[in-house]
Amino acid sequence: MVKVFAPGVIKLFGEHAVVYGKPAIAATINRGIYVECERGDKLVVETVGVSTSLRYFPEERRTEAFGSERFFAYVDATLRIAEERWGALRARFVIRSDLPPSAGAATSAAVSVGLLKAYSHCAGVEMGRDELARLGHRVELEVQGIASPMDTAAVSLGGLLKIWTNPFRVEKIETSLPPFYIAVLPRRGTTGEIVAEVKALLGRRRSAMGVIEAIGALVEEAHVCLVKGDLECLGELMYVNNWLLGALGVVDGRVVNLLEMVKPFIYGGKISGAGRGGVVVLLPRDEGLVERVLSALGHVYYRVSLTQSGVSVL
Ligand code: MEV
Repeated sequence: MVKVFAPGVIKLFGEHAVVYGKPAIAATINRGIYVECERGDKLVVETVGVSTSLRYFPEERRTEAFGSERFFAYVDATLRIAEERWGALRARFVIRSDLPPSAGAATSAAVSVGLLKAYSHCAGVEMGRDELARLGHRVELEVQGIASPMDTAAVSLGGLLKIWTNPFRVEKIETSLPPFYIAVLPRRGTTGEIVAEVKALLGRRRSAMGVIEAIGALVEEAHVCLVKGDLECLGELMYVNNWLLGALGVVDGRVVNLLEMVKPFIYGGKISGAGRGGVVVLLPRDEGLVERVLSALGHVYYRVSLTQSGVSVL
């Protein structure tokens, strides 16, 4: 049996602008997706902890799963690409998640890259991280339509990374950061839809391109603060990045309210990923008080540490 862990990713600075050629800064975390593969007589994919809803028909004693179509779109595209690359495989895959799906923690990239890694190992092939990142990005492009290689590169390579898309380049940032909190709000829209709406806005309003330029400049400043380990500066730039994302229409009132409530206890916070809810990443000043506020508000939240490794066989 092959067991693989593919980390989730928090986007610290630069999402959305990364789609338009600006660099972004993202980091792998100690939660993510586990994929097991065991060869057998048919191809089957089981999921555990990947949220889906059930519909039960008592007269027929039949249960139907729904709400999982988007998740399985990534699985389907990944299996098709894997089969093209390494030939057909009869195996049982089990996918477990300890992060909520489609929230902005790169779980779709982790599913694609983790499944590709497990498939290749099960097929007896060892593949390089760059190729994994490239194939994972192909899956995201097929399913979402528009996608930068940021999430799939981060899941494949691991660490705190500065990522440029065009031409594609990755630089590891060496620094040490304390744990973050991620609060998860229900998401309104898929990554593909939100990225397409931002694209439409930029097409309609030329001045909105100034926001993308400002995010690009902010990422450079944040890079300097990260290297210095300057948490005050990082927190402040997280807030600025969040307001700039708000100008692109992807930060809603729920995120603003949440940040207002925890403000005295954090250096800063922002959405992570496409936005419209989803993951809100918080850099805590006082972990205990952040937890108290998040629990009192009834939010789903996790304390996460940044990690150094990308997808790996366990
Ligand atoms: C999604 O995790 C991040 C976005 O920048 C889209 C992308 O980079 O593909 C919003």
